Amino acid sequence: MNIIRRPRRNRQSAVIRDMVQETRLSVTDFILPVFIMEGQNVRSEVASMPGIYRLSLDLLLDEIQECVDLGVKTFDLFPNLPESKKDKYATESYNPDGLYLQAVRAIKDRFPEVMVMTDVAMDPYSSDGHDGIVEDGKILNDPTLEVLGKMALAQAQAGANIIGPSDMMDGRVGYLRQVLDEGGFHEVAIMSYAAKYASAFYGPFRDALDSAPKFGDKKTYQMNPANSREALIEAQLDFEEGADFLMVKPALAYLDIIKLLNDNFHLPIAAYNVSGEYAMIKAAAQNGWLDGERAMMESLMAIKRAGANVILTYFAKEAARLL
Ligand code: PBG
Repeated sequence: MNIIRRPRRNRQSAVIRDMVQETRLSVTDFILPVFIMEGQNVRSEVASMPGIYRLSLDLLLDEIQECVDLGVKTFDLFPNLPESKKDKYATESYNPDGLYLQAVRAIKDRFPEVMVMTDVAMDPYSSDGHDGIVEDGKILNDPTLEVLGKMALAQAQAGANIIGPSDMMDGRVGYLRQVLDEGGFHEVAIMSYAAKYASAFYGPFRDALDSAPKFGDKKTYQMNPANSREALIEAQLDFEEGADFLMVKPALAYLDIIKLLNDNFHLPIAAYNVSGEYAMIKAAAQNGWLDGERAMMESLMAIKRAGANVILTYFAKEAARLL
């Protein structure tokens, strides 16, 4: 046979395959989301996320130490709060003596070199379980910005390095940039959830935080999964408003959006490999239906290949062990 182009030549041995490999994962790509809860020596597994725990601060610090030893050095912190700490205006979110801000200070204190990313959104603190202030069944945009501003400023004061507005209110990146700058926090970065879709894949996360909306859904602020051109509008706005990173969320069902933003913007692109994506692989692996480790590494690789150079993933620690 006279076949001139034989792509298999470059696959014939491990050494050659390695040489021509286009995408490589590194532990430095990962951000590990972590869940904190009140108490001492408390470790509570999230039922829908095997291997992922809500931890009290003492155990969280141990967990961070283990991750740092594996090379994972950025953590995105989320609080699980008792219903008694929640209210309509998420006031607990900027209580300097509250669990969350205490934890930020403690992590930065013990691990000054670690990057702490904080979540800016009302839902973990909201008695309505929404990311904004609710009135007459509507999510108010502009009044919510004021709450987000107080939250972000308090987080910066506690030592946050990166703030992650995950709320999808209009204008919040510009507003938060202004609040941070006026507070003297020019160095605090904003990783905006630029294209965040109204997704079924957030279910296990809402279990982890007991933060599911008490009524309705999030479709008036999170994006319609059917839309990609709209992601360009969201990304453009966040770029103009001063975002330092643009995030796509979820990741696996939205690889085209990751590529779209990577092709069109010169900021680092992040992708959030969300709770439901983690749960699917874990559940199938536990049933013996697929090889969990391989499915994990293949998924993470695909997210990076699509154009995300930062990956928020609950697999960070497990993948770091394999890298
Ligand atoms: C809400 C928020 C959500 C996640 C992070 N921040 C869920 C939601 O929008 O209801 C989801 C993360 C995950 O599923 O892993 N501000």
